[in-house]
Amino acid sequence: MRFGHFDDRKREYVITQPNTPLPWINYLGCESYFGLISNTAGGYSFYRDARLRRLTRYRYNNAPFDFGGRYLYLRDNDTGKFWSPSWQPTRTKLDKYECRHGMGYTLIGSSCHQIEAQTCYFVPMGETLEIWKFQVTNRRKKPARLSVFSSIEFCLWDAQDDATNFQRNFSTGQVEIVDGVIYHKTEYRERRNHFAYFACSEKLAGFDTQRDTFLGAYRSWDNPAAVEQGKSFDSVAHGWAPLGSHHVKVNLKPGETKEIIFVLGYHENPVDKKFDPPDSQTINKKTVQPVIAKYLDCQNVAAAFQTLRENWDGLLGVYQVQSPDVHANRMVNIWNAYQCMATFNMSRSASFYESGIGRGLGFRDSNQDLLGFVQMVPARARERILDIAATQLKSGGAFHQYQPLTKRGNNDIGSGFNDDPHWLILGVAAYLKETGDWSILDEPVQFENEPGSEQPLYEHLRCSFNYTLERIGPHGLPLIGRADWNDCLNLNCFSDTPGQSFQTTTNKDGTTAESVFIAGLFVMAGKELAAIAKRRRQNTEAERCLAETAKMEKVIYRHGWDGDWFIRAYDDFSKPIGSKVCKEGKIFIESQGMCIMAGIGLKDGKAKLALDSVNQHLATKHGIVLQQPAFTKYYIEMGEISSYPPGYKENAGIFCHNNPWIIISETMVGNGNRAFDYYTRINPSARENIGELHRCEPYVFAQMIAGRDAPTHGEAKNSWLTGTAAWTYFTITQWILGIRTDYDGLRVDPVIPAKWKGFTVTRRFRGNTYAIEVKNPKGKQRGVKKLLVNGKEIAGNLLPVRPPQSKPIQVEAVLEG
Ligand code: GLC
Ligand code: GLC
Repeated sequence: MRFGHFDDRKREYVITQPNTPLPWINYLGCESYFGLISNTAGGYSFYRDARLRRLTRYRYNNAPFDFGGRYLYLRDNDTGKFWSPSWQPTRTKLDKYECRHGMGYTLIGSSCHQIEAQTCYFVPMGETLEIWKFQVTNRRKKPARLSVFSSIEFCLWDAQDDATNFQRNFSTGQVEIVDGVIYHKTEYRERRNHFAYFACSEKLAGFDTQRDTFLGAYRSWDNPAAVEQGKSFDSVAHGWAPLGSHHVKVNLKPGETKEIIFVLGYHENPVDKKFDPPDSQTINKKTVQPVIAKYLDCQNVAAAFQTLRENWDGLLGVYQVQSPDVHANRMVNIWNAYQCMATFNMSRSASFYESGIGRGLGFRDSNQDLLGFVQMVPARARERILDIAATQLKSGGAFHQYQPLTKRGNNDIGSGFNDDPHWLILGVAAYLKETGDWSILDEPVQFENEPGSEQPLYEHLRCSFNYTLERIGPHGLPLIGRADWNDCLNLNCFSDTPGQSFQTTTNKDGTTAESVFIAGLFVMAGKELAAIAKRRRQNTEAERCLAETAKMEKVIYRHGWDGDWFIRAYDDFSKPIGSKVCKEGKIFIESQGMCIMAGIGLKDGKAKLALDSVNQHLATKHGIVLQQPAFTKYYIEMGEISSYPPGYKENAGIFCHNNPWIIISETMVGNGNRAFDYYTRINPSARENIGELHRCEPYVFAQMIAGRDAPTHGEAKNSWLTGTAAWTYFTITQWILGIRTDYDGLRVDPVIPAKWKGFTVTRRFRGNTYAIEVKNPKGKQRGVKKLLVNGKEIAGNLLPVRPPQSKPIQVEAVLEG
């Protein structure tokens, strides 16, 4: 069953019934002001940091699941009937409902009692505010006398404190109401120089700023007293729970439309100009008034919306494909790229499954996210790389997470995740291949954010590589530390105490448990580092890297190969994990993908063998599960992985993040049919028809789909903020469609289903646009045999870098392999 459809031309997903299985959300904002918005206008907003600068309050895991947001109410003043044009919170039956999630905006429209309403929510580029453009039309044959009420609940800034510290918070709330603008100024009297405001373009019939007055005792958002009575109380919040609500009366002739603009914003004043007059406690509004005035004007709002659209045209224009597969096309051209930008902006902080107070930016996550957005925002990718690298430890290791506002390593989770440093090499490699900006390697970058500790970025990469060489276990494989990519494979933890963190509890000295996955990652990263060193003419260094990776490959063959697949790890007793000798967890996905991507087993058939084992033991129709058989009980020597019921998360769930590793591996052995089949199994667009089972949004990837051991096999969870976004994008664009960035140019190496007759891609790359047509007359899966550039045949499959020219470069590639 479907709950909507794609409108690819407008780049929108259209939800046609409000009661989707889970809230289907979108993001507003792409610079410093952000909002989450559901298909029924639920969600919240924040400035830069979802925990420390939260503008509006939101209660997670609510009932209904999504309750609280940017709610408007319409009231018919003749009958006293009222409803929400976004369905929630009153959930009144609507005659028509449509939510269009687009690129950085959401439109929610509906019709009830012959009154049509539509709200467009978006954040103008360059501003720290959001706009709700509300239009209401009278479709009756007689005049309508209506009231419009707005409502948002202010958060007292620190979302964590806001949800816990009530003995203080119920006494600190403060507001000002001036010229119809509601200013939220809690803690402005003391150390904050920022405030929030909520403005309306119309003359007000009234307002409210005290939540419990607006709602009335023992009432909720579905029947606020003010809305029911058609009259605001003009309440002024002193303590308790400040809210912003405007009341506007609208009389409409038959057919008449009225537009009302609401502006919700964040504003900072210079510390010495906080008050006006200076010796008062009144907010200095001179700095914010021009901004408010600008966006209460319809024409400025329309222009800002246009600018937002053009911004997305630019970002998405970097890579556009026309292939025979509609699902691949719309994910590449629109939604997957869009999701990659969300992971760039949010990392793992704020979604409907990440509460915005928990995780900062992950060292490994942020480096992998780069793979998905570096082509759209190379300058910001550069900055991100330098920020991440500055949190690297002097040991070459990494803080597992860092805070976006301070950009400093975060000691809550600490370090010792022994895969972390290698992702920096891969992130930088992706940046170099995209941009050719070799200067980044000479940038001085601190260690542990310590002034004076600066070394060129290139040295950081060497430290990352050496980190593993200094941490080798009994089999010659890398020691795993607290965990490798799989945060839940905690082989040194041995926790028997409820509530202990599996990631930070360490009861073993860490000198025994080893990871075959890190071994593969080390080989992959080492080869990249060698390629980088070579281009910097550091040949000895390049040779050293290759010698070490060759040595590690041998170890993997000796101690990391189980006969039909790669072993996953060795535990603290030096017993293998992910081997035939195990009772549960005999085969894992991660080491297969990582070792093959590193090139191991490609020549001697081991890669193919391992991939066939994956196909046989791990592949399901909903995607590839993480391991089999699932762990049916808690194993103290393995940690969190065995804490999940079978089929969920890392315990044999379909952890979508690592499915692309198998897909890339399949392309490396030339199996285009299987690669694309696996890709389609987790592609949300291709799963749109099973919306009732899948439940999450059909336009973005989810972190997890329940595995075959779960009673809910096929159900997705944790949509939006997942490494799946970058990895699927990277996989389809660079490995299946095969238009792949490389240090010295753009490679054309598609590995596609045999039944595809061809496809076209336009790719902007280093100042040129390439218009690429791939032809597949003989039904092959791989092998470019002829490559024409502007009509001239060239040898090989690499398009060399050229000086920028105004006309697109025409490329024709024929598969005959
Ligand atoms: C989550 C984490 C990521 C980790 C993965 C597997 O996605 O953000 O860092 O690799 O889980 O445990
Ligand atoms: C990853 C895992 C999650 C685990 C967390 C710990 O996100 O997916 O299950 O709790 O890491 O950091």
